[in-house]
Amino acid sequence: MLIFLIGFMGSGKTTLGRPLATRLGYRFVDLDREIEQGEGRTIGEIFATDGEAAFRALEEAYLQRVIEQGGDAVVSTGGGTPCFGEHMAEMNRSGVTVYLKLAPAVLVNRLLSAHLQRPLVAGKSPEELLEYITETLAEREVYYRRANVVVADPSRDVRRLVEILNPYLVG
Ligand code: S3P
Repeated sequence: MLIFLIGFMGSGKTTLGRPLATRLGYRFVDLDREIEQGEGRTIGEIFATDGEAAFRALEEAYLQRVIEQGGDAVVSTGGGTPCFGEHMAEMNRSGVTVYLKLAPAVLVNRLLSAHLQRPLVAGKSPEELLEYITETLAEREVYYRRANVVVADPSRDVRRLVEILNPYLVG
């Protein structure tokens, strides 16, 4: 089964995804890292040289590839992945989607320490970051909300996530 972790930048998709995969004995796939490895460039370089639209096209292609590969995997998507094309419907059709839901104020703190690698938030002050997150999250919630499972305030403890996912794992 494919388990797609979705949510805003900084919501812990990779931090939680990796130990979740280990616990379940599933493969771990980080969509951004797949793109970087496949293209031989960082996400920042792709944005800077080709622009966001080109990045979204790559994101689409790599998501399709992961879905076609199938098998048992935990897939950490990018923050924007569910919000383009038919990605949300496709992920819901191909597996279980899990929205890691955090409040903007929490995301600001998380992103302040790691926003340099993220082109959409790089260089923003804490105030600008809060405004950007509040606005963008409001737009993206429309998509995120369609997840099969919504986990509010996911801790970094993966046990709770495994319990929540249990009904999807049996059978
Ligand atoms: C993006 C989030 C990033 C990455 C790209 C765009 C977004 O992934 O895909 O920088 O649109 O929110 P993370 O959510 O893993 O940071």
